[in-house]
Amino acid sequence: MSAMSLNEHLAAARRVLAAADQEHVLAFWDQLDDGQRQVLLDQVDSVDWPELTRLVQSHVERKPAFKLPENLQPAPWYPYAPPAEMKGLYAKARLRGWELIQGGKVAAFTVAGGQGTRLGWNGPKGTFPATPIRRLPLFGCFAEYIRNMQKRTGAVIPWYIMTSPINDADTRQFFRDNRYFGLDPGSVMIFPQGMMPAVSLAPRNLGKVLLESPGRLALSPNGHGGSLKALWTSGAIADMKKRGIEQISYTQVDNPIVRVLDPIFIGLHDLDAAQMSSKMLPKREPLEKLGNFCLIDGKMTVIEYSDLPDTLAHERLTDGQLRFLAGSIAIHLIRVDFVEALNSQAGNSGDGFALPFHRAEKKVPYIDLKSGQPVTPDKPNAVKLETFVFDALPLCGKSIIYETSRPDEFAPIKNANAPGTQDCPKTSQDLQVARAARWLESQGVQVPRRVDGSVEAVIEISQNTAIYPEDLKGQPLPSAIEPRGQVLL
Ligand code: UD1
Repeated sequence: MSAMSLNEHLAAARRVLAAADQEHVLAFWDQLDDGQRQVLLDQVDSVDWPELTRLVQSHVERKPAFKLPENLQPAPWYPYAPPAEMKGLYAKARLRGWELIQGGKVAAFTVAGGQGTRLGWNGPKGTFPATPIRRLPLFGCFAEYIRNMQKRTGAVIPWYIMTSPINDADTRQFFRDNRYFGLDPGSVMIFPQGMMPAVSLAPRNLGKVLLESPGRLALSPNGHGGSLKALWTSGAIADMKKRGIEQISYTQVDNPIVRVLDPIFIGLHDLDAAQMSSKMLPKREPLEKLGNFCLIDGKMTVIEYSDLPDTLAHERLTDGQLRFLAGSIAIHLIRVDFVEALNSQAGNSGDGFALPFHRAEKKVPYIDLKSGQPVTPDKPNAVKLETFVFDALPLCGKSIIYETSRPDEFAPIKNANAPGTQDCPKTSQDLQVARAARWLESQGVQVPRRVDGSVEAVIEISQNTAIYPEDLKGQPLPSAIEPRGQVLL
């Protein structure tokens, strides 16, 4: 575009916008200075307007109907504790996982492009203070895990972090300010994902893209499914290939106790020659808000909790266990050559693979076209369109599921603290303390507990110190923790 004059650029933009019936995007053109005009035209260039036009018809003018596939089956999984006949396989898988990490074949990947609106934190979510004593930010928790793994294997574990254009600069600055939490900056790669415009739901403006200011579209990240394209377009995949990386360990930014790389999971996935695999948790109750792992014609698929009919969600096997038990917690392993193959279809443009878009109704502040005044809606006024990474599972030849332990690996921070709220900083810290307490008790340390069994102390174990309870062996541990004491290890 650089060779194009502003006027030529404007004429080109007018043409695509007219074809998409979105000419109002330039409504305030006359009031913008040249810098603002350039920004707006660049934003217009970044949107695939023919695709957006199709999506307005299919996802905005109507709600896409979800049709439950007829041959829906629950997907099988590898249990957390192996039955006797699988012990040999698990031992082999663990060894294989460690070998791959040690051989420098596994990269860590954090998706951190979300806006974190529910938490109400003013900054990238990864900068949120997560731990109970040091208030170590989420990014710091993952960095400590990676450093621990590097120390025990002697390998370099490159870390890829997907941001969005909204939080990219702040994320980079945060890593610089914190000296990359002791990691080599040369092995931390930060790149932004793609964006999608928010589209109006108001009857008189149905399907029209909203403006965030007179010179800007209301853009938001295009969902974590965008990671499969962004890994490619950012050059992350090329960088991985140069380093000899074969497997990508995908985790979300919201869980401070996630196993950033898990040898047993890596080994099971690799021994089965799977392309993209997932961890699951047994749902706590039939309607718990987790996606359900299912098989459709033998293909792994996640059916959203909102799409699984209640009758199926409540179905039980003869032993009383839920038939659809396996819930998704958004932890995956993805082969580098799978991402490459997806993006290489139909030439190198990446246009050959498309994940389905999902419709979310949201409150999106916008500029009223008539008055030019900003409006802050008090109820959902727009549709945001996002793709989900798990929708790539049915595109796999082979995919496995491994069960994990909720108390050992799932303490997400999603919502702001409020009485009775789950998945908030308070519940996450309680879970972190509970895990630390169990690990210490497994090493013979006495931990004070209240009558309800909760821990009556604040304990934090740095992931530099331990990522498994056994790591505490041989460390200088107290024999007992004082009631209401604070212990940092
Ligand atoms: C997600 C899963 C849910 C799972 C839960 C486990 C979906 C739709 N839901 O819910 O099935 O049980 O996690 O904790 O996936 N992100 C981006 N770019 C985006 C959007 C999101 O990088 O455009 C990242 C976020 O930064 C975050 C993660 O994806 O790390 C999850 O995002 P969020 O939309 O908050 O999903 P949840 O509702 O938490």
